[in-house]
Amino acid sequence: MNLKIAKLPGDGIGPEVVEQAVKAVDAVCEKAGHKAEYTFGYVGACAIRKFGDAFPEETFRICMDSDAVLFGAVGDPEFDNNPTAKVRPEQGLLAMRKKLGLFANLRPVETFSALVHKSPLRKELVDGADFLCVRELTGGMYFGEKGRKDNGDTAWDTNIYHRYEVERILRLAYDYARLRRSHLTVVDKANVLESSRLWRQIAQELAPEYPDVTTDYMYVDNAAMKLITGPKFFDVLVTENTFGDILTDEASCVSGSMGLLASASIGEHTGVFEPIHGSYPQAAGKNIANPLATILSAAMMFEYAFQMKEEGRMIREAVKASIDAGIVTEDLADGGKAYSTSEVGDWVADYIMKH
Ligand code: IPM
Ligand code: MN
Repeated sequence: MNLKIAKLPGDGIGPEVVEQAVKAVDAVCEKAGHKAEYTFGYVGACAIRKFGDAFPEETFRICMDSDAVLFGAVGDPEFDNNPTAKVRPEQGLLAMRKKLGLFANLRPVETFSALVHKSPLRKELVDGADFLCVRELTGGMYFGEKGRKDNGDTAWDTNIYHRYEVERILRLAYDYARLRRSHLTVVDKANVLESSRLWRQIAQELAPEYPDVTTDYMYVDNAAMKLITGPKFFDVLVTENTFGDILTDEASCVSGSMGLLASASIGEHTGVFEPIHGSYPQAAGKNIANPLATILSAAMMFEYAFQMKEEGRMIREAVKASIDAGIVTEDLADGGKAYSTSEVGDWVADYIMKH
């Protein structure tokens, strides 16, 4: 099959890690008889410098004309330290989500036995934890009306949700729960927020349609606690945009290796596959960043965008083998030999070719 992939490396370490994912994708294509065709697009700080726009029209077109988007990271200290900057790299990400209709962000948290000791949590709490966070991505406070008044001294953001937005993300979460252990936890703040009461109301309406799935409801503060006191409780966790942003950062620490967590954003148009970590500008160009999260995002791309399970598995297996063999970057090396970003990428691609 011909796979049209938009390649959006973005800023910082983005280009280096995306290059390693491309090697893995090419190896899989070679083995499985597919042909990957990449189209490069600018996003983030590099796009602001070139076009004055963090998600230029040209990049949007490239995404719309592709079957999947392989994304690196955006962000640059030049903008972080300048509160008066009119355009910010992060706006590129938000514009991309909105314009591509990517209402669902899937962030799986898995633990690798060989790395459980890296977790800040005790081994017995983490070993075997395996859950999927489903975060609503195009609604809520991120996109609701915002403003200032009183000479700028009063500010507001509106946490607004419509029924159709809540219903589609809940249904999607139910569908994924069915593919896993059929346990869905709906996270909200229904004891305080009206928008959360709408979420819970709709969830309670839908639950009888999924009698094979166990649904439970949890307040977000309690969920934040449960994620570190008993992460094995969760199978699929679904929540709104802002809560999801916070909880998925927390969840990403459970496994102890941020450099391993991949994500998929899916919805109406082309899906975007990206590592959870940021642009890590301090490491940019040094060939030391961990490429495994981006390589695993490519596995998610095969699974979610192309419905190619076997191809995804080939990548996952190679990543697992690289960890077991100690072919890892310095963040995972534990004082042992640290390999460079490109060495890890080459090893993974080579493993795919030979197995
Ligand atoms: C994320 C990031 C983004 C978000 C930022 C960079 C806008 O933190 O993908 O979780 O808040 O959604
Ligand atoms: Mn975040």
